[in-house]
Amino acid sequence: DFTGPLGVWRYSSILPLETADSVTLHEGGTPLYDAGKLSDELGVDIHVKHEGMNPTCSFKDRGMTVGVSKAIELGIERVACASTGNTSAALSAYGAAADIPAVVLLPQDKVAMGKVAQALMHGAELVELDGNFDECLRIVRDLADEGFFYVLNSINPYRLEGQKTIAFELLEQLNWELPDRVVLPIGNAGNISAIYKGFREFYHAGIIEEIPMMTGVQAEGASPLVGALQKSGPLEPFESPETKATAIRIGDPVNAPKAREAIGETGGTATSVTDEELMDAQVKLAQYEGIGVEPASATSVAGVRKLLDEGVIDSTETIACVTTGHVLKDPDAALEASGDTVKTDATREAVRNALN
Ligand code: F0G
Repeated sequence: DFTGPLGVWRYSSILPLETADSVTLHEGGTPLYDAGKLSDELGVDIHVKHEGMNPTCSFKDRGMTVGVSKAIELGIERVACASTGNTSAALSAYGAAADIPAVVLLPQDKVAMGKVAQALMHGAELVELDGNFDECLRIVRDLADEGFFYVLNSINPYRLEGQKTIAFELLEQLNWELPDRVVLPIGNAGNISAIYKGFREFYHAGIIEEIPMMTGVQAEGASPLVGALQKSGPLEPFESPETKATAIRIGDPVNAPKAREAIGETGGTATSVTDEELMDAQVKLAQYEGIGVEPASATSVAGVRKLLDEGVIDSTETIACVTTGHVLKDPDAALEASGDTVKTDATREAVRNALN
Protein backbone atom coordinates (compact mmCIF):
# COMPACT_ATOMS: atom_id res chain seq x y z
CA ASP A 1 0.00 0.00 0.00
CA PHE A 2 1.44 3.31 -1.08
CA THR A 3 0.38 6.66 0.34
CA GLY A 4 0.77 10.26 -0.72
CA PRO A 5 0.44 11.90 -4.10
CA LEU A 6 1.72 10.20 -7.23
CA GLY A 7 5.45 10.83 -7.49
CA VAL A 8 8.81 9.30 -6.65
CA TRP A 9 8.51 9.53 -2.84
CA ARG A 10 5.11 7.84 -2.78
CA TYR A 11 7.24 4.70 -3.13
CA SER A 12 9.69 5.56 -0.34
CA SER A 13 9.03 2.21 1.35
CA ILE A 14 10.80 0.53 -1.58
CA LEU A 15 13.48 3.18 -2.08
CA PRO A 16 16.80 3.10 -0.28
CA LEU A 17 16.01 6.29 1.69
CA GLU A 18 13.27 7.81 3.85
CA THR A 19 11.07 10.68 2.66
CA ALA A 20 12.15 12.85 5.56
CA ASP A 21 15.73 12.84 4.29
CA SER A 22 14.99 13.53 0.66
CA VAL A 23 16.05 16.43 -1.51
CA THR A 24 12.91 16.87 -3.55
CA LEU A 25 11.50 19.25 -6.16
CA HIS A 26 8.28 17.19 -6.40
CA GLU A 27 9.38 14.96 -9.22
CA GLY A 28 7.29 12.26 -10.83
CA GLY A 29 3.51 12.19 -10.94
CA THR A 30 3.78 12.88 -14.65
CA PRO A 31 0.71 12.64 -16.89
CA LEU A 32 -0.25 9.56 -18.83
CA TYR A 33 -2.08 10.49 -22.02
CA ASP A 34 -4.26 8.40 -24.29
CA ALA A 35 -2.88 9.22 -27.71
CA GLY A 36 -6.14 8.72 -29.60
CA LYS A 37 -5.32 10.25 -32.97
CA LEU A 38 -1.86 8.75 -33.06
CA SER A 39 -3.33 5.36 -32.11
CA ASP A 40 -5.84 5.66 -34.95
CA GLU A 41 -3.17 6.54 -37.47
CA LEU A 42 -0.77 3.80 -36.43
CA GLY A 43 -3.49 1.22 -35.81
CA VAL A 44 -2.43 0.27 -32.29
CA ASP A 45 -3.39 1.46 -28.82
CA ILE A 46 -0.79 3.96 -27.59
CA HIS A 47 -0.50 5.65 -24.19
CA VAL A 48 2.13 8.30 -23.64
CA LYS A 49 3.82 8.75 -20.26
CA HIS A 50 5.26 12.24 -20.58
CA GLU A 51 8.34 12.49 -18.42
CA GLY A 52 9.06 15.92 -19.85
CA MET A 53 6.56 17.15 -17.24
CA ASN A 54 9.06 16.78 -14.40
CA PRO A 55 10.57 19.79 -12.53
CA THR A 56 13.55 20.19 -14.89
CA CYS A 57 11.52 18.75 -17.77
CA SER A 58 13.05 15.29 -18.09
CA PHE A 59 12.88 11.88 -16.41
CA LYS A 60 16.32 12.46 -14.93
CA ASP A 61 14.71 14.24 -11.97
CA ARG A 62 13.43 10.91 -10.65
CA GLY A 63 16.92 9.51 -10.48
CA MET A 64 18.45 12.72 -9.22
CA THR A 65 16.12 13.19 -6.25
CA VAL A 66 17.23 9.79 -4.96
CA GLY A 67 20.88 10.11 -6.05
CA VAL A 68 21.45 13.57 -4.55
CA SER A 69 19.56 12.60 -1.37
CA LYS A 70 21.87 9.62 -1.03
CA ALA A 71 24.93 11.78 -1.65
CA ILE A 72 23.86 14.06 1.20
CA GLU A 73 23.25 11.06 3.45
CA LEU A 74 26.75 9.80 2.63
CA GLY A 75 28.27 13.17 3.47
CA ILE A 76 29.54 13.76 -0.07
CA GLU A 77 31.01 17.23 -0.69
CA ARG A 78 30.84 17.52 -4.47
CA VAL A 79 28.78 15.75 -7.14
CA ALA A 80 29.41 15.40 -10.86
CA CYS A 81 28.18 13.90 -14.08
CA ALA A 82 28.95 13.61 -17.76
CA SER A 83 25.90 14.46 -19.79
CA THR A 84 24.27 14.93 -23.14
CA GLY A 85 22.30 17.65 -21.33
CA ASN A 86 19.35 16.46 -19.28
CA THR A 87 21.32 14.81 -16.52
CA SER A 88 23.32 18.00 -16.16
CA ALA A 89 20.18 20.14 -15.86
CA ALA A 90 18.77 17.81 -13.20
CA LEU A 91 22.03 17.51 -11.28
CA SER A 92 22.48 21.26 -11.26
CA ALA A 93 18.94 21.88 -9.94
CA TYR A 94 19.08 19.20 -7.25
CA GLY A 95 22.60 20.27 -6.33
CA ALA A 96 21.23 23.78 -5.80
CA ALA A 97 18.32 22.48 -3.72
CA ALA A 98 20.70 20.40 -1.61
CA ASP A 99 23.30 23.14 -1.39
CA ILE A 100 26.08 20.93 -2.72
CA PRO A 101 28.47 21.96 -5.52
CA ALA A 102 27.90 20.25 -8.87
CA VAL A 103 30.28 19.74 -11.78
CA VAL A 104 29.15 18.85 -15.29
CA LEU A 105 31.18 17.61 -18.27
CA LEU A 106 29.52 18.14 -21.65
CA PRO A 107 30.40 17.27 -25.23
CA GLN A 108 31.20 20.63 -26.78
CA ASP A 109 28.53 22.12 -29.09
CA LYS A 110 26.44 18.92 -28.92
CA VAL A 111 24.09 19.80 -26.09
CA ALA A 112 20.72 21.41 -26.75
CA MET A 113 20.44 25.04 -25.73
CA GLY A 114 17.71 24.64 -23.11
CA LYS A 115 19.75 22.12 -21.17
CA VAL A 116 22.93 24.20 -21.09
CA ALA A 117 20.88 27.20 -19.97
CA GLN A 118 19.30 25.20 -17.15
CA ALA A 119 22.57 23.77 -15.88
CA LEU A 120 24.17 27.24 -15.87
CA MET A 121 21.13 28.89 -14.29
CA HIS A 122 21.04 26.45 -11.38
CA GLY A 123 24.70 27.14 -10.69
CA ALA A 124 26.68 24.07 -11.71
CA GLU A 125 30.25 24.39 -12.97
CA LEU A 126 30.09 23.46 -16.67
CA VAL A 127 33.08 22.14 -18.58
CA GLU A 128 32.71 21.55 -22.33
CA LEU A 129 35.06 18.90 -23.66
CA ASP A 130 36.38 18.60 -27.16
CA GLY A 131 35.01 15.07 -27.32
CA ASN A 132 31.79 13.05 -27.25
CA PHE A 133 29.65 11.90 -24.33
CA ASP A 134 31.46 8.59 -23.96
CA GLU A 135 34.76 10.40 -23.50
CA CYS A 136 33.18 12.78 -20.97
CA LEU A 137 31.89 9.82 -18.97
CA ARG A 138 35.26 8.08 -19.00
CA ILE A 139 36.94 11.18 -17.58
CA VAL A 140 34.26 11.71 -14.95
CA ARG A 141 34.66 8.12 -13.78
CA ASP A 142 38.45 8.42 -13.66
CA LEU A 143 38.29 11.62 -11.63
CA ALA A 144 35.73 10.05 -9.29
CA ASP A 145 38.10 7.13 -8.75
CA GLU A 146 40.69 9.68 -7.68
CA GLY A 147 38.20 10.94 -5.10
CA PHE A 148 37.66 14.21 -6.92
CA PHE A 149 33.85 14.02 -6.67
CA TYR A 150 30.88 11.61 -6.47
CA VAL A 151 29.43 10.44 -9.80
CA LEU A 152 25.72 10.79 -10.43
CA ASN A 153 25.50 9.23 -13.87
CA SER A 154 23.31 6.18 -14.32
CA ILE A 155 26.21 3.91 -13.30
CA ASN A 156 25.18 5.12 -9.85
CA PRO A 157 22.64 2.56 -8.59
CA TYR A 158 20.59 5.14 -6.66
CA ARG A 159 19.76 6.93 -9.89
CA LEU A 160 18.12 3.78 -11.24
CA GLU A 161 16.22 3.32 -7.96
CA GLY A 162 14.49 6.63 -8.55
CA GLN A 163 13.82 5.97 -12.21
CA LYS A 164 12.22 2.60 -11.51
CA THR A 165 9.20 4.52 -10.16
CA ILE A 166 8.13 5.16 -13.76
CA ALA A 167 6.98 1.52 -13.82
CA PHE A 168 5.01 1.86 -10.59
CA GLU A 169 3.26 5.05 -11.66
CA LEU A 170 2.42 3.68 -15.05
CA LEU A 171 0.71 0.69 -13.47
CA GLU A 172 -1.26 2.80 -11.02
CA GLN A 173 -2.36 5.16 -13.79
CA LEU A 174 -3.52 2.19 -15.89
CA ASN A 175 -5.48 0.87 -12.90
CA TRP A 176 -3.05 -2.05 -12.61
CA GLU A 177 -3.74 -3.23 -16.15
CA LEU A 178 -0.36 -4.06 -17.58
CA PRO A 179 0.48 -2.70 -21.00
CA ASP A 180 1.77 -5.40 -23.32
CA ARG A 181 4.80 -3.35 -24.20
CA VAL A 182 6.77 -0.37 -22.89
CA VAL A 183 8.71 1.55 -25.53
CA LEU A 184 11.38 4.13 -24.77
CA PRO A 185 14.56 5.68 -26.14
CA ILE A 186 17.91 4.14 -25.27
CA GLY A 187 21.03 6.24 -24.79
CA ASN A 188 23.22 5.03 -21.97
CA ALA A 189 20.58 2.34 -21.34
CA GLY A 190 19.91 3.30 -17.73
CA ASN A 191 16.22 4.06 -18.01
CA ILE A 192 15.16 0.82 -19.67
CA SER A 193 17.12 -1.07 -17.00
CA ALA A 194 15.50 0.97 -14.22
CA ILE A 195 11.93 0.53 -15.48
CA TYR A 196 12.53 -3.19 -15.88
CA LYS A 197 13.80 -3.31 -12.28
CA GLY A 198 10.60 -1.62 -11.14
CA PHE A 199 8.39 -4.14 -12.92
CA ARG A 200 10.53 -7.01 -11.67
CA GLU A 201 10.12 -5.90 -8.06
CA PHE A 202 6.34 -5.86 -8.46
CA TYR A 203 6.50 -9.22 -10.18
CA HIS A 204 8.52 -10.82 -7.40
CA ALA A 205 6.18 -9.30 -4.81
CA GLY A 206 3.30 -11.07 -6.56
CA ILE A 207 1.62 -7.77 -7.49
CA ILE A 208 1.79 -8.42 -11.24
CA GLU A 209 1.91 -11.71 -13.10
CA GLU A 210 3.84 -10.65 -16.16
CA ILE A 211 6.31 -7.99 -17.22
CA PRO A 212 5.65 -5.90 -20.33
CA MET A 213 7.91 -6.45 -23.32
CA MET A 214 10.67 -3.93 -22.77
CA THR A 215 11.42 -2.27 -26.09
CA GLY A 216 14.23 0.21 -26.68
CA VAL A 217 14.75 2.57 -29.59
CA GLN A 218 18.06 4.10 -30.63
CA ALA A 219 18.85 6.66 -33.28
CA GLU A 220 20.37 4.97 -36.31
CA GLY A 221 23.64 6.91 -36.05
CA ALA A 222 24.06 5.83 -32.42
CA SER A 223 22.69 2.30 -32.32
CA PRO A 224 25.38 -0.06 -30.97
CA LEU A 225 22.90 -1.98 -28.82
CA VAL A 226 20.62 -2.74 -31.75
CA GLY A 227 23.62 -4.07 -33.67
CA ALA A 228 24.72 -6.26 -30.77
CA LEU A 229 21.23 -7.74 -30.32
CA GLN A 230 20.89 -8.46 -34.04
CA LYS A 231 24.14 -10.40 -34.00
CA SER A 232 23.59 -11.85 -30.52
CA GLY A 233 27.19 -10.82 -30.06
CA PRO A 234 29.32 -8.40 -28.09
CA LEU A 235 28.51 -4.71 -28.27
CA GLU A 236 30.75 -2.85 -30.68
CA PRO A 237 30.86 0.79 -29.64
CA PHE A 238 30.22 3.52 -32.23
CA GLU A 239 33.38 5.65 -32.24
CA SER A 240 31.62 8.69 -33.71
CA PRO A 241 27.92 8.50 -32.86
CA GLU A 242 25.81 11.08 -34.72
CA THR A 243 22.13 12.04 -34.56
CA LYS A 244 19.96 15.11 -34.24
CA ALA A 245 18.58 13.50 -31.09
CA THR A 246 21.61 14.75 -29.16
CA ALA A 247 20.28 13.37 -25.85
CA ILE A 248 21.00 9.85 -27.08
CA ARG A 249 24.13 10.58 -29.10
CA ILE A 250 26.00 7.84 -27.25
CA GLY A 251 28.32 5.24 -28.77
CA ASP A 252 29.13 3.00 -25.82
CA PRO A 253 26.16 2.64 -23.43
CA VAL A 254 27.43 1.69 -19.98
CA ASN A 255 24.24 -0.06 -18.91
CA ALA A 256 24.03 -2.20 -22.06
CA PRO A 257 24.33 -5.53 -20.19
CA LYS A 258 21.36 -4.63 -17.96
CA ALA A 259 19.35 -3.44 -20.94
CA ARG A 260 20.01 -6.70 -22.78
CA GLU A 261 18.69 -8.57 -19.77
CA ALA A 262 15.57 -6.37 -19.65
CA ILE A 263 14.89 -6.96 -23.33
CA GLY A 264 15.82 -10.64 -23.34
CA GLU A 265 13.88 -11.62 -20.21
CA THR A 266 10.66 -9.92 -21.34
CA GLY A 267 10.57 -10.93 -25.00
CA GLY A 268 11.14 -7.33 -25.96
CA THR A 269 13.32 -5.94 -28.69
CA ALA A 270 15.42 -2.99 -29.77
CA THR A 271 15.29 -1.10 -33.02
CA SER A 272 16.68 2.06 -34.54
CA VAL A 273 15.09 4.94 -36.41
CA THR A 274 16.47 7.63 -38.71
CA ASP A 275 16.55 11.30 -37.77
CA GLU A 276 13.81 11.87 -40.34
CA GLU A 277 11.59 9.26 -38.76
CA LEU A 278 12.05 10.59 -35.26
CA MET A 279 11.43 14.19 -36.34
CA ASP A 280 8.22 13.09 -38.06
CA ALA A 281 7.09 11.39 -34.85
CA GLN A 282 7.98 14.49 -32.84
CA VAL A 283 5.74 16.63 -35.06
CA LYS A 284 2.90 14.08 -34.88
CA LEU A 285 3.01 13.94 -31.08
CA ALA A 286 2.94 17.74 -31.02
CA GLN A 287 0.26 18.31 -33.65
CA TYR A 288 -2.06 15.33 -33.16
CA GLU A 289 -1.91 15.15 -29.40
CA GLY A 290 -0.54 18.44 -28.08
CA ILE A 291 2.35 16.58 -26.49
CA GLY A 292 5.62 18.48 -26.86
CA VAL A 293 8.69 16.27 -26.64
CA GLU A 294 12.34 16.58 -27.56
CA PRO A 295 13.76 14.58 -30.50
CA ALA A 296 15.17 11.67 -28.45
CA SER A 297 11.78 11.09 -26.82
CA ALA A 298 10.06 10.86 -30.18
CA THR A 299 12.12 7.79 -31.06
CA SER A 300 9.62 5.81 -28.96
CA VAL A 301 6.72 6.58 -31.27
CA ALA A 302 8.89 6.32 -34.40
CA GLY A 303 10.03 2.92 -33.16
CA VAL A 304 6.45 1.73 -32.67
CA ARG A 305 5.65 2.69 -36.24
CA LYS A 306 8.67 0.82 -37.57
CA LEU A 307 8.04 -2.32 -35.51
CA LEU A 308 4.40 -2.35 -36.61
CA ASP A 309 5.51 -2.13 -40.24
CA GLU A 310 7.92 -4.99 -39.67
CA GLY A 311 5.22 -7.09 -38.03
CA VAL A 312 7.13 -7.26 -34.74
CA ILE A 313 4.40 -5.36 -32.91
CA ASP A 314 0.93 -6.81 -33.23
CA SER A 315 -1.95 -4.35 -33.70
CA THR A 316 -3.83 -5.86 -30.73
CA GLU A 317 -1.14 -4.79 -28.29
CA THR A 318 -1.49 -2.02 -25.74
CA ILE A 319 1.62 0.11 -25.76
CA ALA A 320 3.04 2.64 -23.33
CA CYS A 321 5.56 5.04 -24.86
CA VAL A 322 7.76 6.89 -22.39
CA THR A 323 8.58 10.37 -23.69
CA THR A 324 11.63 11.34 -21.71
CA GLY A 325 12.11 15.09 -22.25
CA HIS A 326 10.20 18.29 -23.04
CA VAL A 327 10.11 20.01 -26.44
CA LEU A 328 11.57 23.24 -25.03
CA LYS A 329 14.78 21.46 -24.12
CA ASP A 330 15.83 21.75 -27.75
CA PRO A 331 14.20 24.78 -29.41
CA ASP A 332 16.52 24.58 -32.42
CA ALA A 333 15.40 21.05 -33.22
CA ALA A 334 11.75 22.01 -32.73
CA LEU A 335 12.09 24.86 -35.23
CA GLU A 336 13.88 22.65 -37.72
CA ALA A 337 11.19 19.97 -37.54
CA SER A 338 8.15 22.20 -37.61
CA GLY A 339 8.56 24.90 -40.27
CA ASP A 340 8.70 28.66 -40.39
CA THR A 341 6.73 31.75 -39.43
CA VAL A 342 5.00 34.00 -41.97
CA LYS A 343 6.14 37.62 -42.00
CA THR A 344 3.84 40.42 -43.20
CA ASP A 345 3.29 44.15 -43.02
CA ALA A 346 1.40 45.33 -39.95
CA THR A 347 -1.98 45.68 -41.69
CA ARG A 348 -5.21 43.74 -41.45
CA GLU A 349 -5.19 43.09 -45.17
CA ALA A 350 -1.66 41.74 -45.23
CA VAL A 351 -2.46 39.34 -42.38
CA ARG A 352 -5.71 38.20 -44.07
CA ASN A 353 -3.82 37.56 -47.32
CA ALA A 354 -1.03 35.73 -45.55
CA LEU A 355 -3.32 33.23 -43.84
CA ASN A 356 -4.55 30.04 -45.50
N1 F0G B 1 15.80 10.56 -23.53
C1 F0G B 1 16.37 11.69 -23.10
C2 F0G B 1 15.62 12.95 -23.30
C3 F0G B 1 17.63 11.66 -22.47
O1 F0G B 1 18.17 12.78 -22.03
C4 F0G B 1 18.29 10.43 -22.35
C5 F0G B 1 19.62 10.34 -21.72
C6 F0G B 1 17.66 9.28 -22.81
C7 F0G B 1 16.41 9.38 -23.40
C8 F0G B 1 18.27 7.94 -22.71
O2 F0G B 1 18.20 7.44 -21.42
O3 F0G B 1 20.60 7.02 -21.07
O4 F0G B 1 18.90 6.05 -19.56
O5 F0G B 1 19.14 5.21 -21.89
N2 F0G B 1 20.30 11.35 -21.39
C9 F0G B 1 21.57 11.30 -20.63
C10 F0G B 1 21.98 12.69 -20.22
C11 F0G B 1 22.63 10.50 -21.25
O6 F0G B 1 23.17 12.92 -20.00
O7 F0G B 1 21.12 13.54 -20.06
P1 F0G B 1 19.27 6.36 -20.95
